[in-house]
Amino acid sequence: MLEIQALSKHFVSGRGHISALTDISFSVEQGKGVILAGRSGSGKTTLLNCIGALEVPDSGAVVYNGVNICTLSPRQRTLFRRCEVGFVFQAGNLLPWLTVAENLQFPLELNDIRGTAQQRRIEELLATFSLAGYEQALPAELSGGESQRIAFARAIAHQPALLLADEPTASLDSSNGRQLMELMFSLCRTQGTILVIATHDQELMAMTDTVMALKDGRMEKKP
Ligand SMILES: Nc1ncnc2c1ncn2[C@@H]1O[C@H](COP(=O)(O)OP(=O)(O)O)[C@@H](O)[C@H]1O
Ligand SMILES: [Mg+2]
Repeated sequence: MLEIQALSKHFVSGRGHISALTDISFSVEQGKGVILAGRSGSGKTTLLNCIGALEVPDSGAVVYNGVNICTLSPRQRTLFRRCEVGFVFQAGNLLPWLTVAENLQFPLELNDIRGTAQQRRIEELLATFSLAGYEQALPAELSGGESQRIAFARAIAHQPALLLADEPTASLDSSNGRQLMELMFSLCRTQGTILVIATHDQELMAMTDTVMALKDGRMEKKP
């Protein structure tokens, strides 16, 4: 269970004081997905970063399985990110000089999954994402849809409890985007992963009951 409790976060920049998030609260159960909707600048990325322990909020809490991750030490936050969280970004977050298999190896190495277990996991991931035989391909040789599937495979390779996706379909056409989202929802459901997806694609919002609409860092309605 993931609980976001009265989360607030501001930035100070050349534009002055910016309230990126104000008093955000919601919760998501294991195996469920939630969509963060809102225009550019509404606070979606900041919220994902707070959930993924990349940013520390000013106030409020992100509680995962009873632990407030905002109060963990930097070392504990690093371990939380490495073991419990998978990230998918808009596009292009594969390392271009590494093959598909080497890109998938990365989170597995960090989580001490090596040797034949690693080999088996890579094969299993490629089969799941209909990319068997792509081990030696370089990211530049993949289509947009294929590289987002590999980015997604890499994000879940170590079986994280939380999958955070920041506009993962923004670079895809609508049929590829929809396919990727369906895959994400169904895998998370079967593995009990909590899925939080930021998007401003109206079509994708219809895929879940739980849409959190953000406007200027505030929640517009509760699920
Ligand atoms: N590191 C930062 N420094 C200053 N302002 C920031 C920073 N990150 C985000 N912001 C501001 O916070 C607000 C929310 O941004 P963001 O979370 O990126 O929104 P979204 O992902 O919905 O586009 C915006 O006004 C943005 O300019
Ligand atoms: Mg963003």
